[in-house]
Amino acid sequence: MPHQLQNLVKKSILDLRPYQPGKSGKDIGNEKAIKLASNENPIGVSPKATEVIKSCLKNIYRYPPDAPFSLREKIARKYGVGSENIILGNGSDEIIELIVKAFLNPAEEVILSEPDFLIYKLSAQAAGAKIASLPSKDFKTDLKRIKSSISNKTKLIFLSNPNNPLGSYLNQDEVKDFFNNLSKDIIIVFDQAYAEFVETEDYPQMLESLDSHNLILLRTFSKFYGLAGLRIGYAISNSRFIEYLNKVRLPFNVNFLAQQAASAVWNDKLFLKKTKEVIKEGKEYIYKSLNKLNLFCIDSATNFISIDVQEDGQTLCQKMFNYGIIVRDLKPYGLDNFVRVTIGQEEENKRFIEAMTKIKKENSSI
Ligand SMILES: Cc1ncc(COP(=O)(O)O)c(C=O)c1O
Repeated sequence: MPHQLQNLVKKSILDLRPYQPGKSGKDIGNEKAIKLASNENPIGVSPKATEVIKSCLKNIYRYPPDAPFSLREKIARKYGVGSENIILGNGSDEIIELIVKAFLNPAEEVILSEPDFLIYKLSAQAAGAKIASLPSKDFKTDLKRIKSSISNKTKLIFLSNPNNPLGSYLNQDEVKDFFNNLSKDIIIVFDQAYAEFVETEDYPQMLESLDSHNLILLRTFSKFYGLAGLRIGYAISNSRFIEYLNKVRLPFNVNFLAQQAASAVWNDKLFLKKTKEVIKEGKEYIYKSLNKLNLFCIDSATNFISIDVQEDGQTLCQKMFNYGIIVRDLKPYGLDNFVRVTIGQEEENKRFIEAMTKIKKENSSI
């Protein structure tokens, strides 16, 4: 092992702190623990996806179709665009990397909102970009501030909408204002990983802006569609953007089972309807219960809720582990007293609230 490795590694990598995924039951020594930490689908996998995976297993010795036309076509039809406007990725994470790889030169500036999904920062830092992080306001991305911070050095803006970890979203009017007279020299990435959960009419799908702006929209099969473990996501954009992203994409980036399962779940109306119902009911229950406990929660349009737990979030997570429940502390996002809980199934939500009630009681008796 060469001991001067730190002299060999790229400078931009030296100080990177790798992404910390949500913990599993195994991590906390309790395989039966309830996992409410990674915003996955509460009802599991679509039976249609499981069925198709079983039937495809015998074919996995073959390379999969590269950039499968039929799946891109299916997705494109929903949005009224062409298959040339869609690129698939090994999770939308991979597409974030492809964007950085294709468009970002070292020392160019990337604007981010804080807090936001950590992979934007990590990818941009690894590429040697300059990062401008702008604080959100009242638990919402501050679009006005972001717009006024754009300079001739700015190359890219990454924003999740709805925001992870806040759960809040930017509405149609706010986004319209932002696009008005926006410089054409920058690329805007709106990550819509949680869009399917939003129930309000004023949520901007943004498809109409694809031709007038340098806009890339990201979507995923990991959350609403329940395929996080298979790794598949996609981007919708102008075909010229997609062409460039394809230039830096490795062949066969999306595996065969993911392609087939995504195609199956796309049409599984029953599963998707059930998912929405479980989230809606669970969210109402959790909000109501936390309200009774006098805990402040950020208004969420997604399948998770971020909560001010009135103590160090990491400490609270440890206490939750003791009750066999895994939630996420938001310290890495700069929200030290917050935890994020994913809406689970009815029984899971109940267990979470019971644990929270006990923890609060214990705290008040200290
Ligand atoms: C805002 C946001 N974007 C992207 C992702 C990554 O999704 P994928 O599993 O498709 O890589 C996540 C996952 O947590 C997310 O929260």
